[in-house]
Parts: sequence; structure tokens; C-alpha cells
Amino acid sequence: MKEKKQLDKMEKIISLSKRRGFVFQGSEIYGGMGGTYSYGPLGVELKNNIKQLWWKKFVQDRTNIVGIDGPILLHPKLWVVSGHAEGFGDAMVDCKECKKRFRADHLVEDAIGKDLEGKIEEMTKIIKEEKIKCPNCGKVNWTDVKEFNMMFKTQMNGVEGDIFLRPETAGAIFIEFKNVMDSTRQKLPFGIAQIGKAFRNEIVAGNFIFRLREFEQMEIEYLIRPQENWEPIFDNWLNLQEEFAMELGAKKEDLRRLEHPREKLSHYSKKTIDIEYKFPFGFKELYGLAHRGDFDLTQHTEFSNEKLEYFDQETGERFIPHIIEPTFGVERSLLLALLSAYTEEEVEGEIRVVLKFPNKLAPIKIAFLPLSKKDELTEPTKKLFDKFKEKFICQYDETQSIGKRYRRQDEVGTPYCVTFDFDSLGDNSVTVRDRDTMKQERVKIEDLEIYLNEKFHSNE
Ligand code: GAP
Repeated sequence: MKEKKQLDKMEKIISLSKRRGFVFQGSEIYGGMGGTYSYGPLGVELKNNIKQLWWKKFVQDRTNIVGIDGPILLHPKLWVVSGHAEGFGDAMVDCKECKKRFRADHLVEDAIGKDLEGKIEEMTKIIKEEKIKCPNCGKVNWTDVKEFNMMFKTQMNGVEGDIFLRPETAGAIFIEFKNVMDSTRQKLPFGIAQIGKAFRNEIVAGNFIFRLREFEQMEIEYLIRPQENWEPIFDNWLNLQEEFAMELGAKKEDLRRLEHPREKLSHYSKKTIDIEYKFPFGFKELYGLAHRGDFDLTQHTEFSNEKLEYFDQETGERFIPHIIEPTFGVERSLLLALLSAYTEEEVEGEIRVVLKFPNKLAPIKIAFLPLSKKDELTEPTKKLFDKFKEKFICQYDETQSIGKRYRRQDEVGTPYCVTFDFDSLGDNSVTVRDRDTMKQERVKIEDLEIYLNEKFHSNE
């Protein structure tokens, strides 16, 4: 029952996202493209707010992390050297009857409750022995399980070999390590951060914007000395990642840590912990933290023309640093923000839908609403809008009744509505309505800026 309620919530969020311009299915007018989405006028603001919050927290507010913006198209050698060309895949299996493709490890796990990721032959055997039914057509007629590389292939004029759309943003950071170090003179420990697109040809995309084929990552490669006691640094990053999730609205009890067992570690990792969030479809990976050791910089040093070493000016030592990598998905953050904010409340016998975003995330901060469409009210309201739009993302709205306009702003999470009414003409005051409490306060127009500034700062 509780599970069904959660899934209903997801349906409601998907519907609200489309109706109010947060998220649209990609290429919908041509029948849609699985695992791709467009972000509408409010979705793009929300996404930008998430990225800005991250960039401020992890780059601008810190003295030892700097940012880059590397290309999506990277040299073909990079993906061979990083191991992705060989080993960046999932196990797939096709139903011979309905031709649908599935993640073999997911089918097996659903059937026997055991995760056999990476064990191709064992999975083929179990699917046959257990006579697992196709979730789509219900028949039992499978191909053998095969490895499927998830990188998208393309070509580039003047470059030989396959070019891949990057499946993670990290690659560009490793190969710019020396440029960043030489241009910033950072001392260890320091980090390089990047936000950008990544592409994975997922066998099965789904759960709205949870598993996508085109998405964005926010990643940091945090460089430390090889002999450094890395465990406290690793733990601190886990705390910071959870802290960020909570700044987006997650409750502590909806987050948990899942350590990858040794046999499931990525080819580069010494230790990996997933931070999972309780999505309506269960606890699933939200963010990840991996100790990548010196794998990447050693590989690139061996196969490129550059020694990716750190030179310690005090001791005269040269060495390859080790890397701890906190990684965050932008769309999973956005889904978390929508899920945490979505609230239904009964008000005077009707259901009020409110997105209770933290102020920093709200796509529109203040809505300016004249009580009627008469020029004597619209003109001064527009003037207020023009003044406040310099500082906040604002909206001006004069259509429909004031009650409907409040509900519309509640539904997209606008923290404050400012209404200019007929009394405003006489008392030079406006009504400020609080989204969460619905309380209304009369504020002098000359005090409005200080009043709203205080409201936004006290909520930071
Ligand atoms: N550089 C390490 C790395 O890419 P990952 O766990 O494969 O690690 C990092 O991905 C994060 O990217 C995940 O924690 C998740 O938030 C996001 N992510 C991964 N695959 C995704 C997909 N198919 N759709 C949406 N987000 C995804």
C-alpha cells in the first residue's frame, strides 16, 4: 500500500513536470527517444540552481578546488587507456519472442535475489534453469547473456579510430591535470571539479529521469599524497555528499551508504561507496565515492607524451598522486529535489499541491501579482517587477483570479507572492504571501527590499 502511494507520487510528479514546464520527454512529437529528456522553462532554472549550489559549495567557497570545462569529444586513446573501451559494459539478454532487451543481472536478481553482476556464464545458466519469464511478453525463450559496451560511438574528421561520447566527465579532468597544476600552483591535497554532459547507451533506461542515456554529472577528482591516511578524507567526502543531498531537501533517514564488495568494484577502484536515496522505486544510487588510487594518472603517463606527476617543491620529490572521486548526478539530484519538495495539503476541502523547495532551489523566487487587470494596478506592479528582477528571478502574472494565481505559484514552488491591490494605491503597501504557511503580511513598499532580503537570507 505504502509502495503504491510512493509510485502514485512519482506519477504525479511526472505529470506536474510536464504540465508546468519542468521536464518533457525527449523528441516526444516523433514518438519519444528513451532515456532523453528536455528541461522546460522551470526545469532549466531548477537544474541551473542545483549546479550553481554545487559549484559554490565545492569550488567557489573552497581554496583548494578549482574548476574546468573539458570537451565531450576526447582522444580515442583515452578510452582504451582508461579501460572503458574494454570494460565499460553491462550484461544484456534478449527475449527471442518479443525482441525486448533486458539487463541480465537485474532479471537474475529479481528472480533469485542474488546479484551476479559480471558473471556472464552463470547468469545464462540461471536464466535457463530458473525458466525466468520475459517481463514484457511472459515467454521463456532467451539468447545467451552478452557483455554490452555502453559507450556511444561516433566519428570525427581527421581523427582515426572510434570516437566515443564520454560516459563520465572524469576523463577530461585527468588529462588536464598538468595544465591545471601548472596554471594554478595548487598544493596537495587539491581537487579539480567539472560539471558536464555524459552519455551511456543504457540497456534499459527508465524511472523517469533516474536512468538516462544522456545526462549530466558533477565530479571532483581530489588529489592526495600516496602515503596520506586517506580514510578520514574519504569519510569526510561521504559526509559532504550527504550534506549536499540534504541541502536539496533529502531527509537523513532517506539516505544510506552501500559499499561495493571487492568483486564488484570498477576496474580502477580500491574502494567505492554508493550513497543511496530512497526513491519511490526503492533505495537506489544517488551519488558515488571511489578511491581510484593512481590508476588513471599512471595509465595516462604511460601511454601519452606527458608525465602526469606532482613535483613537491619542499622535498624535491616527484610522484603520481592518488585520487578520491566524489561524483554526483545532476538529474538524480533534480529528481530528489522534486520528490522532497512535493507536498499535498488539504485546504478548505480542496487539495493544495505545493513544491516546498528550499529558497535557493526555487525556479521563481517572487511572483508579482496585481489584484486586477486595471492599469492603475498593473502599472505599479510591473514597476516593482522591473526593480526586483535585477536581484531575484521574478515573474509577473495578471491572468485569472488571485486565488488561482497563488495556487499556480504554490505548484511551482515560488516562496513569495507580492500582491498589489486597490488599498496599495492609498497606503503604499503590498501583501506578501508566504508559500508554506500561506500567511499574508502587509509590507510598506519602501521596506519591501529589506523585508524580502531578510526572508531569503534567514532561510539560507
Ligand atoms: N566517474 C565515476 C562515475 O561515472 P558512476 O557511478 O558510473 O561513476 C556517477 O556515475 C553518477 O552519475 C551516479 O552516482 C549517478 O548520480 C549518475 N549517473 C550514472 N549513470 C546515470 C544514468 N544512466 N542516468 C542518470 N544519471 C546517471
